[in-house]
Amino acid sequence: MTSVVAPRIVVAVDGPASSGKSSVGLAVAQRLGLRFLDTGLIYRALTALALREGVAPEDEPALTALIPRFELADDGQGRLARVLVDGEDATGAVRTHEVDLSVSAVARQPGVRAALLGLQRRLADAGGIVMAGRDIGTVVLPDADLKVYLDASVEERAMRRIRERGLDPQGEQADAVREQLRARDAVDSGREVAPLRAAEDAVVVATDGMGFEEVVDLVAGLATAVAASRRADTGPREAASPSPAAPPEQAAEAGRAAAREPAANVRPAATAKAAGPEKRHRVLEVAMRLDNHQSMLVRMVARLAQWLGLAFADVRHEGLDRVPRTGPVILAINHASNFDPVFAGAWVSDALRTRRIHWLGKRELFFWPVFGWVCALGGVHPVDRSTADVEAYRLATRILEKGYVLLIFPEGTRSPTGALQEAKDGMAQLALRTGAQVLPIGVNDSDLVWPKGRRLPSPFPRRRVLVRIGEPFRVADLVPPGADRRAAKAAVTTAVMGRIAELLEPRQRGVYASVVRGASVGTASPKVG
Ligand code: DC
Repeated sequence: MTSVVAPRIVVAVDGPASSGKSSVGLAVAQRLGLRFLDTGLIYRALTALALREGVAPEDEPALTALIPRFELADDGQGRLARVLVDGEDATGAVRTHEVDLSVSAVARQPGVRAALLGLQRRLADAGGIVMAGRDIGTVVLPDADLKVYLDASVEERAMRRIRERGLDPQGEQADAVREQLRARDAVDSGREVAPLRAAEDAVVVATDGMGFEEVVDLVAGLATAVAASRRADTGPREAASPSPAAPPEQAAEAGRAAAREPAANVRPAATAKAAGPEKRHRVLEVAMRLDNHQSMLVRMVARLAQWLGLAFADVRHEGLDRVPRTGPVILAINHASNFDPVFAGAWVSDALRTRRIHWLGKRELFFWPVFGWVCALGGVHPVDRSTADVEAYRLATRILEKGYVLLIFPEGTRSPTGALQEAKDGMAQLALRTGAQVLPIGVNDSDLVWPKGRRLPSPFPRRRVLVRIGEPFRVADLVPPGADRRAAKAAVTTAVMGRIAELLEPRQRGVYASVVRGASVGTASPKVG
């Protein structure tokens, strides 16, 4: 049964050939009562028309001139799946072998892509649509509410096709399928304009080993959660949107109008990142748009987290009024317990008022379906701790460059003893590069409530957890004159950790005990190593 739970959201689904984006996109659209457009159809329709008119796939001006002659129409089931050429139904002509052979060459023409951009955007203008393709999240709809990049290894995608066609997996035809997919990947990813890429803020779902329904459940769940947060949110998109949701007929009409007057502005996918189509492990990368608005949902989660924290400890805070209300801020917190995000984050979130906290969390959090969505909606961005995660660093930089708030545990992992451990230098690098203020936060005694190594927290005996918030400061002044980059990072790391140590009782100062400047915070000049 179809339920209209997300009438306005725009979902972009991208991915390589045979990654399942059309079938998953359609199933999600039907489940949520959204319209669906497979944008490959547009390139196919133009190719079919070009073949009929004898226009070569490289003849860019002639191809562009054909565009006003075709339109997309609703098939009566919410799919923009009918192609009209000169007003007549030509849907049957778009999935032929001849079109298969020429469509990539047509889709490679920059002028063609530019001319089709306006058509695609206008179809999404009214909202309430799932749009599938190769460049939807990166170029066509960079502001989509949810961007999903469906990925799978060549072998997995080939096996799906081989099974569909009933071929022998060891046979020559199966090898040809694998070769064909590799070739299409190369063309789609290697072309100059709008190459196949996952948007930086896309949820990358590597579907190897997942069943169709499992993928649909996952994407529909994400879309539902995003729709819920948009509804709860009186925020920017809804408020700025001038027109009420248009019914499908109106949207189709908007599409027809757009087809008659194509726009010509291609916005390059400057922030797009490469996502290797060969990536094998199942990963949810970033499940939220980078926005700075604290929705009602986030507020509710923060309030629930406060109750949870208070159920387990007598939680006190000092210095919440020091939380900066504007500009980029790194919240630098010691990490001794799974409860630190609750004890510190839930209250700091309140103190930030309308701004939200962005977090870098371990990627494994996203492997648990429901918890993963909650994390994503709560602003967590995953970090791959097994590698130096360049993408996470870039994302963190972007968050700060936008002037947002980023929470970091500079030690990387929880301390097994509760005392400060050697910190990584990523936080210092970010602070130096972006000029963000650093707000040191010391969480005292959270390890007594839920230490590392214990499966569950204990409310007995009832402990007092004191969260001390220091003065915000800028790190540029902490760099010794003449220091090279490495020395600067080391100095800043030590200085920031020293300021955190000052907010902790001696028991928890650990390796930074010697950097503490004395009793007062934010007055003496720092001693850096
Ligand atoms: O998904 P498909 O096989 O129907 O796509 C047909 C062609 O169109 C394929 O070569 C990639 C191209 N295409 C594109 O370049 N950009 C899109 N948004 C969708 C499809």
